[in-house]
Amino acid sequence: MTKLTTRLKGAVAVGLICASPALATDVEVLHWWTSGGEAAALNVLKADLNGQGVGWQDMPIAGGGGSDAMTVLRARVTAGDPPTAVQMLGFAIQDWASEGALADLSALATEQGWDDVVPAALQGFSKNDGKWVAAPVNVHSTNWVWANTALMAELGITQPANWGEFVAAMQKVKDAGHVALAHGGQAWQDATVFDSMVMGVGGPEFYKTAFIDLDPDALGSANMVEAFKRMETLRGFVDDNFSGRDWNLASAMVANGEALFQIMGDWAKGEFVNAGQTAGVEFQCFRVPGTEGTVTFNSDQFAMFKVGDEGAMAAQMTMASAVMSPVFQVAFNTVKGSVPSRTDISDEAFDACGKLGMAQLSEASASGKLFGSMAHGHANNPSVQNAMYDVITGHFNGEYDAETAAAELVTAVELAQ
Ligand code: BGC
Repeated sequence: MTKLTTRLKGAVAVGLICASPALATDVEVLHWWTSGGEAAALNVLKADLNGQGVGWQDMPIAGGGGSDAMTVLRARVTAGDPPTAVQMLGFAIQDWASEGALADLSALATEQGWDDVVPAALQGFSKNDGKWVAAPVNVHSTNWVWANTALMAELGITQPANWGEFVAAMQKVKDAGHVALAHGGQAWQDATVFDSMVMGVGGPEFYKTAFIDLDPDALGSANMVEAFKRMETLRGFVDDNFSGRDWNLASAMVANGEALFQIMGDWAKGEFVNAGQTAGVEFQCFRVPGTEGTVTFNSDQFAMFKVGDEGAMAAQMTMASAVMSPVFQVAFNTVKGSVPSRTDISDEAFDACGKLGMAQLSEASASGKLFGSMAHGHANNPSVQNAMYDVITGHFNGEYDAETAAAELVTAVELAQ
């Protein structure tokens, strides 16, 4: 039986069983929110939509940064069967919009005044050719360290003020027989850490020139070599079982005191909160030493694929509207670990790390120190991003030394453009 016949039969069966065809008011959502904290945040959205009569068909594809989800998406679209709503990051949104695949949300955006409340840095990704093509649900940032408070106290470690102190602290943990750095050896996690190494070594101008402008001199520079050397230093502080470990399992190592630190985006906070922990009590958050004052951000957005069915279109608009609602933004982001994608939301309901994140986001934005995360699709297009992933992870796993890695980065980026 062909896929189409199966579908038609399924649709007939649904029509026979249900008086009203439920499918037209569903959204099928492709996303990569599969950890405990992520699922808890997703449930906030599901419940909101259910309350408005919109059903949810789940299409989860694990993997931070969304590369795997984007591969599945491409296959679905090629087969002529796109999901109705898709979690997307930065440049991927622009690529799909340029292909003409995304629904225009501008009427809703105008009615609800999105232009006035969504920060310009996000609008650059949510809009294409002057039209709103995605609804930003949050702002995450990648240059965070998560730390276990009790283990810090036990080892007499205070928040490191610079890279040297951070390394010294990790050495102390290692000497005491604990895991200094919880990490999962997956390309996107290596790249997430690398965002902060590049920012920490070279500062915002260098980060921009290398990752956003893709200047070959910057990509192959002494600063880049130094950033790779810092990765080697970190490699010396991860445990033997790091390879392939999921990021949320690394967060759990910090939560349960097996490890002291994790360098990860603030979705890690969602894991701590989901485990019943409180920011500033059981766990601490601070910016990766050397990156203070800067923020490398990514924003999860929902893009709606063009569909013919009016019921499905209405469900898409309900979802976009829900995502942008101020009440929802608080309910969702306090669980997700991210901060709101609207500037008109009070930080009152947010915990200590959330308040810090909101304040630092607006300060970095005002002082020109807010840049898109390379690891999470906000610095360059997906093919360049994936080319960078390969070099960074190859180096982290000992394939190249730091000098060779910087040279490889130049070549890989040139070929990917
Ligand atoms: C997304 C986050 C997600 C993380 C880990 C990032 O790319 O922006 O929302 O929690 O990956 O899955």
